Amino acid sequence: MLTDWDDPIASLRQAKQEPVTPPALVERTLAGLNTADNTAPATTPPTSSREAPAQGGANGLEEVEFGAERISVDDKQMINCRADLNQLVPFKYKWAWQKYLDACANHWMPQEINMTADIALWKNPDGLSEDERTVIKRNLGFFASADSLVANNLVLAVYRHITNPECRQYLLRQAFEEALHTHAYQYCVESLGLDQAEVFNMYREIPSIHDKAAWAMRFTQSLGDPTFHTGTPEADQRLLRDLIAFYIVFEGIFFYVGFVQVLSMGRRNKMTGCAEQFQYILRDESMHMNFGIDVINQIKIENPHLWTAEFQQEITAMLREAVELEVRYACDTMPRGVLGLNANMFEDYLQFIANRRCAQIGLSEQYPGAGNPFPWMSELMDLNKEKNFFETRVTEYQTGGALNWD
Ligand SMILES: [Fe+2]
Ligand SMILES: [Fe+2]
Repeated sequence: MLTDWDDPIASLRQAKQEPVTPPALVERTLAGLNTADNTAPATTPPTSSREAPAQGGANGLEEVEFGAERISVDDKQMINCRADLNQLVPFKYKWAWQKYLDACANHWMPQEINMTADIALWKNPDGLSEDERTVIKRNLGFFASADSLVANNLVLAVYRHITNPECRQYLLRQAFEEALHTHAYQYCVESLGLDQAEVFNMYREIPSIHDKAAWAMRFTQSLGDPTFHTGTPEADQRLLRDLIAFYIVFEGIFFYVGFVQVLSMGRRNKMTGCAEQFQYILRDESMHMNFGIDVINQIKIENPHLWTAEFQQEITAMLREAVELEVRYACDTMPRGVLGLNANMFEDYLQFIANRRCAQIGLSEQYPGAGNPFPWMSELMDLNKEKNFFETRVTEYQTGGALNWD
């Protein structure tokens, strides 16, 4: 059956008469159209925003109910909300809207960054050591697939289950930023004339990169299952687990060895274009993580029954496993130590970061006394940028894409 995009309703009527299984998109639209004569598939969304689905919340694809009662702030909730999701206001989570505005004020594009010095340095046989080249290539390799993974998790797994329009607005902005990040890595690879196949296949060919991607894939696959719905404690914990895996571990731990390594190069006046790309990305990622922390904490506030001792233990084990994987990545990217950095320093740093992540979502610190061997990174973000709604608001964002870390 062909779908007529100029007249989708006609196609759907035609589809009803054809004994062929309609494509997924048509089937979903049919569910919305056919509720009046009860011929919709079993997965039919509610006919009215106030008619509760069997499980979970609204998804925004329900029929528009004419003359429905107006939505108030009290109708809104982070997950399992039954109120129509097609209304942005009235805002309930003003911090989410503010983060959306802040993210837009930080807009930048990879092509705006001058890569001339990087190209000259890379092409000069004496410009960089082999270890320094490995640092650049492996980080481009990891991040190039990592940002695609994050983007796919957002649009194919998380978005559907976050039942709040102002948070969805931020998620849409975040999804675009993830596209920009993948674009930035591609731009670096192209500028430097690297072997694209080598870089873009690292997540399948370099064990420490593969292990991080594979670790995260478990969580997004679980949530991306089309039959998955929130609405039971187990399912809601599954969503919370995915949010923690991506916002706290993936964007909050797995990115940090790479950030330190590439920014260290920039601090030594090497590969300054790549370092600037990573600096913009770090600024975005810092905000993604803080948004995630706020969402996670809000879900906990609204659903305290999910945060059981057993669940906390499971999350703690997950964080510890992530630290081990990231230490392995540090060893793999700089086996001999380079730029005044070595794998032991990263172990300390990751424990320090993990303690901070635990505290940010209300878990006890796992590595007492862990210190920060990279205080300059703290100055860069921990002190100024890692603010979230539950601590203090960030007020120093700027417009026009200019970076200023002071
Ligand atoms: Fe990203
Ligand atoms: Fe991100």
